Amino acid sequence: MRPRALSLLLAAAAFALPGIARAQNAPAPAPPAFTLAPLPYAADALEPVIDAETMRIHHGKHHQAYVDNLNKALAENPVLKDASLESLVARAGTLAPAIRNNAGGHWNHTFFWETMAPTAKVGAISPALAAAIDARFGSLDKFKAAFKAAGTARFGSGWVWLVIGKDGKLAITSTPNQDNPLMDVAEARGTPVLGNDVWEHAYYLKHQNRRGDYLDRWWQVVDWGKVSARYAAATSGQAEQAGHEGH
Ligand SMILES: [Fe+2]
Repeated sequence: MRPRALSLLLAAAAFALPGIARAQNAPAPAPPAFTLAPLPYAADALEPVIDAETMRIHHGKHHQAYVDNLNKALAENPVLKDASLESLVARAGTLAPAIRNNAGGHWNHTFFWETMAPTAKVGAISPALAAAIDARFGSLDKFKAAFKAAGTARFGSGWVWLVIGKDGKLAITSTPNQDNPLMDVAEARGTPVLGNDVWEHAYYLKHQNRRGDYLDRWWQVVDWGKVSARYAAATSGQAEQAGHEGH
């Protein structure tokens, strides 16, 4: 190699190497704090009660947006970057609306997907939960009627819940927007064991404006086995953590 060519090559290498070194030493981009888990069943698994298109949009667009917007809001509040989803929800009233709404949206929807299962696979209600519902509401049918009434009475968007209240008794409650009964701002706080999404995005494609029809038919896909397991965990003093790590 001629001396001039060699010197040009060395100069080029010296120019290029620092760039390579920077690329190799640069910290890997931090993964998103929260991620969207896949649905625990196929999008069409809840047909005909909830149609596949509604499930795809609800999970893939709405829930994904809550996760993305929560991560964006947390990136602007680095002091909260290591907070768990549960701790954000518990102090939602002290946080920016973007964190309250999107943390609630992420928690609520994760809980909602896990509450349901294909009709052929739903579990049975436990004797303990059935007895508690009978004692509090008179019968399972009366409970369902009261739950529907609370869901249809929720003006605008929100959720209807069956919770174990601070007094240890079952109660039906409703929250606006993406609030939930675990939040410090909830009118009636408690541990949710069952919750239904009464935002129009949950039912409008199939049921249009008939929220009551959706609430009636929804029972066909409620996994009472899962609800009963939550009830057992909460009443035995153990926090129900399955699927709710959030990170
Ligand atoms: Fe929703």
